[in-house]
Amino acid sequence: MKFFIDTANLAQIKEANDLGILDGVTTNPSLMAKEGIKGSEAVLQHYKTICGLVDGDISAEVISTDFEGIIEEGKKLAAIHHNIVVKVPMIKDGIKAIKWFTDNGIKTNCTLIFSAGQAILAAKAGATYVSPFIGRIDDSGWDGVELIAQISNIYSIQGFKTEILAASIRNALHIIKCAEAGANVCTCPLDSILGLLKHPLTDIGLAKFLEDAKKFA
Ligand code: G3P
Repeated sequence: MKFFIDTANLAQIKEANDLGILDGVTTNPSLMAKEGIKGSEAVLQHYKTICGLVDGDISAEVISTDFEGIIEEGKKLAAIHHNIVVKVPMIKDGIKAIKWFTDNGIKTNCTLIFSAGQAILAAKAGATYVSPFIGRIDDSGWDGVELIAQISNIYSIQGFKTEILAASIRNALHIIKCAEAGANVCTCPLDSILGLLKHPLTDIGLAKFLEDAKKFA
């Protein structure tokens, strides 16, 4: 399973990349706004900076919702760097645009996936990734990880090549459960990635080893 970081914060991207386990980055308009990025030129520049930090797929989201607008925006984003993946919402014009990008050799990430039917449609259009939002599904009283397992099963039976990118990750357990359920990628906040490091018995064991090491130091 690949690890992406779900942020537009450069310090957090660097910290995750320094761990040596980072395979890519995902962003969205909310994450860009959180970093105070304003204006289309600043947005393009920010993506360029991220591409310079991480050697892996970088999802850059369009904000147009009509076919022509999505194509125009997506072409501009894709021109920034060969690692850019154009992130397109799961809407009718979005599916048409994903098919166009696929036919023109541009990678896509179909975002805001909340059902298996949406995942099938995105795969049919040739999306490189689909992003089921598992945390938001949990928030609404359903089981996000179950959706990952369902999509994984369908893609395997049907031979779809689209990768399942589990998004809206809220904690380390989500990452473990998504790995079990067949996600190809987890895009996570830095805290959830670092949460995987933690176990109290590791801390207790290390403290004891260091204490005992003093005896022969
Ligand atoms: O990037 C999309 C997704 O990961 C958003 O997560 O926490 O806003 O539901 P969240």
